[in-house]
Amino acid sequence: MPSTVLVLNGPNLNLLGSREPEIYGHETLSDIATLCERTAASLGIAVDFRQSNSEAELVDWVQEARASRAGIILNAGAFTHTSVALLDALTATSLPVIEVHLSNIFRREEFRRHSYISLAARGVICGLGSQGYELALTAMARLIAKPAKPRARAPSTQKTPNKKTPAKGKRTR
Ligand code: DQA
Repeated sequence: MPSTVLVLNGPNLNLLGSREPEIYGHETLSDIATLCERTAASLGIAVDFRQSNSEAELVDWVQEARASRAGIILNAGAFTHTSVALLDALTATSLPVIEVHLSNIFRREEFRRHSYISLAARGVICGLGSQGYELALTAMARLIAKPAKPRARAPSTQKTPNKKTPAKGKRTR
């Protein structure tokens, strides 16, 4: 079974497509879900894509992910800037977390420059629109890849040089 990554979206992201398109673009959340599913399939992983306007529901989903998901990609929307509860839930999972924002939060209002989520995130991607989700999935696939087993070495027939015996032709004092 492929590893599954939880892709969580916070408040108002259900309005994508009609919400401030000059900032968030014209793609809908369902377009982004399709993009994530396609990207994940090409990487050999699966996605569980969700959205909620409720902080409590997002916290519950993060808690559930502890047992069943390999990593979390999170666009927490406005909760990014307010939610210690989400930060605590993410920290408690000890899963790799990547934070995503469609807009460049550092080019906007001052209050958007601080993220509680970043304290739990391995990486942050912002300002690249829906491509940020694709990049996050690519990075996550690498983070959760099982480390390759070391290749078994063929038994060597060569003798290892004995440090105590000086090599022929070399003089020692
Ligand atoms: C957002 C940025 C947040 O500041 C804002 O509250 C959002 C969306 C983004 O994707 O750019 O709802 O997370």
